[in-house]
Amino acid sequence: ILLIALFAIAAYLIGSICSAVWIGKAYYGIDIRQHGSGNSGATNTFRVLGKKPGAIVMLIDIFKGWTATSLAGFLVIFNAIEPENLIVFQLIFGAIGVLGHIFPVYENFVGGKGVATLLGMMLAIEPVVALMCIAIFIVVLFTSKYVSLGSIIAALAFPMLLLLVPRFQPENPILIIFGFILFAVVVLTHRKNINRLIAGEESKANIKLGRRR
Ligand code: G3P
Repeated sequence: ILLIALFAIAAYLIGSICSAVWIGKAYYGIDIRQHGSGNSGATNTFRVLGKKPGAIVMLIDIFKGWTATSLAGFLVIFNAIEPENLIVFQLIFGAIGVLGHIFPVYENFVGGKGVATLLGMMLAIEPVVALMCIAIFIVVLFTSKYVSLGSIIAALAFPMLLLLVPRFQPENPILIIFGFILFAVVVLTHRKNINRLIAGEESKANIKLGRRR
């Protein structure tokens, strides 16, 4: 139990790492939350600071989700849980990591929207389905030019693919249930984006330049 609690705290602290805010402040003297959409995430870093910092923030945020989720593997190695329960703890630690990103302890609990961190979690649990979600994200992004729409649809695609494609159906349905819960979290963090999309006011990505407008 102690080990599980320690790993849960570690997952939260890893998820809390505010890569967009810290890189913006350290290397550009800019608080990313004062610019663009005001979100401390990879998309806004691309938009405000450009390709290189955007890509670095994206990779760090993906890695956070992957690492938090993968902590569960150590519970099996240390014989703290049965191997068949691995998926449950991957989901718990991964979700804690995503919540850490959204509510980071280091920045007054004001963080990002959780998409890249959720992707890292998906990659750790179901890499093939996660890669398909990335493909879906890219198709939506390039056809609509809306990053937020791509994020929302890709987050929905994960549990839908698990549910509908026979070869992806997981042994434990908890994966699908968590998938839909995390999709709901993404919808909640994108409330403002959804309102802007409906109003036709969401900013479009300037894909050619690699910067978002
Ligand atoms: O992952 C966040 C993205 O979907 C939207 O970001 O900055 O356009 O609100 P942003």
